[in-house]
Amino acid sequence: MTSAPFDFAPLLAAGLPPPAAKWTGLARFSFVGGNNDPEQVPVDGLIAAVDAVLTREGRTLATYGLANGPQGYLRLREFLSLKLKRDAGIVCGADDLLIVSGSLQALDLVNQTLLAPGDTVIVEQQSYQGALTRLTRLGVTAVGVPLDHDGLRMDALESALADLKQRGVRPKYIYTIPTVQNPTGTIMPEARRAELLKLAETYGVPIVEDDCYADLIWDGRRPPAIHAMSRTGNVIHIGSFSKSIAPALRVGFIVAPWAMLSRMLALKTDAGSGALEQMVLAEYCAPHFATHVPKLTRGLRAKLDTLMEAVNAQFGTAAEFEIPAGGIFLWVKLPDQVDTLKLYQAALAAGVSINPGPEWSTDKAYAKSRLRLCFASPSHEQIREGIAVLAEVCRKEFGVPARIANVETARA
Ligand SMILES: Cc1ncc(COP(=O)(O)O)c(C=O)c1O
Repeated sequence: MTSAPFDFAPLLAAGLPPPAAKWTGLARFSFVGGNNDPEQVPVDGLIAAVDAVLTREGRTLATYGLANGPQGYLRLREFLSLKLKRDAGIVCGADDLLIVSGSLQALDLVNQTLLAPGDTVIVEQQSYQGALTRLTRLGVTAVGVPLDHDGLRMDALESALADLKQRGVRPKYIYTIPTVQNPTGTIMPEARRAELLKLAETYGVPIVEDDCYADLIWDGRRPPAIHAMSRTGNVIHIGSFSKSIAPALRVGFIVAPWAMLSRMLALKTDAGSGALEQMVLAEYCAPHFATHVPKLTRGLRAKLDTLMEAVNAQFGTAAEFEIPAGGIFLWVKLPDQVDTLKLYQAALAAGVSINPGPEWSTDKAYAKSRLRLCFASPSHEQIREGIAVLAEVCRKEFGVPARIANVETARA
């Protein structure tokens, strides 16, 4: 006789999100998520780093936080404070940094510190799905502000802020991904960053600067971080090792004034993020980060070229895109009759996964025929084959492209 399984349902806390779906594996041709290039993980360097750091300091693992306090491994924070000064112009000491479990935990801590249901946050109209779904789940209104080639549009931001003010709403923060925007791939120039700071100061709204792609720029040149340009300490800066080293490590960081950092630290109740990852990163990055990143970006740029060639060859003029300034994504516009939420389902059945545009936008109609393709994780071969399959599926479902691989086709 088998006993009936215990029923947890009546005991579940109120307001839980829907249950997670079971993992069913990656698609054969996977263009989704923010995954990196497996060939570019510096495995040998990481092995050497594990060996060196554990031999030297392994016994510190006996103490929570490696006896370095709750903000994270000191040598990693020291590395970051040098790197942020050199690359982004941010002047911060190890004590101004909090190491977290990926920048997703950073977003959670910012949200827990600042948001309550009914609040309003300003976001870029096209934005990171993980940030948008968090706001929805918290019952927070996300006001989307349109973007152009230089990122967040200041005229549109100004009217959104003025409109909200008139209605008595003070947004809790402006969320921006200014340095290689996700999904559009733009970099906000320095002058516009200054305008953004001015507007934020005028309206008394802080900025959350999510800079996780800032290392992956084709020409290696970036404007100073918005955090570095602020004179009032109104910017919370978030970064990550996910895109520069590897996302599965789950190591990110927050730079913020102590008034905010101390609040977030009080909400970080996991007794510290994984210590081994922090130790290995500090050991590897201090001597190797500056040489690893240009090599990584060269490889990513080559994959982007393969993807753009494949999209042009398979979709022809049916696909429009702008060349991203860096990063790991291509944001593509297909003809209006293509519904990328439907294309996503049909493509998945054929072994190709894509990110449909509406999941990355506050304006579902604008994003209906847009999609995001990650080019970092598939191989060059998989990019070529996967895009050919995607074009075939798209043609069957929506009649576009009318020509495939430059060959005229009749709709199936
Ligand atoms: C803009 C943005 N922020 C945050 C994250 C989360 O990254 P992490 O792996 O550091 O949690 C991602 C991941 O793709 C992202 O694109």
